[in-house]
Amino acid sequence: MRFKLKEGLLLGSATAATQIEGGDENNNWARFAAEGKVKDGSSPVTASGHYTRVREDIDLMAEMGLEVYRFGIEWSRIEPRRGEYDAEAIEHYREEIEYMTEKGIKPLLTIHHFTNPLWFEDMGAFENDDSPEIFLSFTKKVVEAFGDIVSEYITINEPNVYATNSLLWGYWPPEKKSMGALVNAFSNMTAAHVLSYNYIHEKRREMGYDDTRVSFANHLRVFEPKNPKNPFHRIASSLSEYLFQGAITEAMMTGKCAFPVLRRKGVKKGKYHDFIGINYYSRSSVSGLSDGVREDCYKNDLGWEIYHEGLIELANKLGKKYGGEVYVTENGTCDNTDSFRARFVYDQLKMISEAENPITRYYHWSFMDNFEWKEGERERFGLVHVDYATQKRTVKESGRLYSSIIKNGGVTDEAYEEFVKNSHYKK
Ligand code: BGC
Repeated sequence: MRFKLKEGLLLGSATAATQIEGGDENNNWARFAAEGKVKDGSSPVTASGHYTRVREDIDLMAEMGLEVYRFGIEWSRIEPRRGEYDAEAIEHYREEIEYMTEKGIKPLLTIHHFTNPLWFEDMGAFENDDSPEIFLSFTKKVVEAFGDIVSEYITINEPNVYATNSLLWGYWPPEKKSMGALVNAFSNMTAAHVLSYNYIHEKRREMGYDDTRVSFANHLRVFEPKNPKNPFHRIASSLSEYLFQGAITEAMMTGKCAFPVLRRKGVKKGKYHDFIGINYYSRSSVSGLSDGVREDCYKNDLGWEIYHEGLIELANKLGKKYGGEVYVTENGTCDNTDSFRARFVYDQLKMISEAENPITRYYHWSFMDNFEWKEGERERFGLVHVDYATQKRTVKESGRLYSSIIKNGGVTDEAYEEFVKNSHYKK
């Protein structure tokens, strides 16, 4: 054995509805793509065709041995117009959840993962001060529909990436560049999370369940000054960290709001997480207010530094501060030819297994290649390859390694020879 998996660590994968399903035109990302704003011209209306291939995909997950699965539901399918719910869409997701459960895969349901129904987007989405209540209404529907078969929920995925990309940098729809818009979205998303957290607990308790677990998925990076001796770099690094992830994390975990998060109605000091959800990808090397990458380091195909220690550092830091288990709700890499993903998986899981840390779940991003937002289909994060012309799925070498790790409880010498030995990072 090269290493044994940490005891009790459950392994699975993560996806998001819009990135894999296809077939839905009623959301802001489908419209953005139709306006020609996606780099390679692709669209989530196609994506990985998962909506009509759910069973086939879950069968493949089960064959690979996945124990847990983080997946999303598409709000614009379930509530195509405000207050109108689609029974067929609800039934579709019930069947999906029942099927994965039957196959022994435990669901973790994400309620919001970047995408908005057009009606919500056009009223200003989370910039609108009614949005916490509107989101709460949707949460109510979700718990009513799935509360008897799902015990674990993520309310909102990466509020910081959503708000900065959409409202501060103008990169994602609706392409705004406004600090005021960012502050409103941060504040309203915090309230939406807190209200939903309370409701999910209350409702499921009333339904007779005591195993409810709710949190949100945080996009966390490690920030470091490009030149540690330069005081400006040091200040810029701390400030970026605080503005991008520090304040919003604190607010959503504890209800304690400080600029750029303002306190909205219904947000009181408390505990709004039953686990700490960390999406971890990379480290930022800071010399100003925008993002930078170290020059001399291994990088993925999107130019992000590969820095596995960062996940352990963050898990320990947050574990100490907030307490409880850490679920790695996303971790993975963009490797279009699958030439180093096996090594990435090996190194990251080895580190989780050997270092001291509170991580109990690991959801690899992503199960299969998918629509990578503005980057489109070109950038691949999957353990399973998708041929977008035929929608054929093929398990990659890295996927075969991942599966063998789950089945053997670690990396055997044979698996190392077969999958990892010739898998190399690049600079
Ligand atoms: C998001 C995913 C995305 C991944 C890779 C995360 O920030 O939650 O939707 O595909 O990163 O970029």
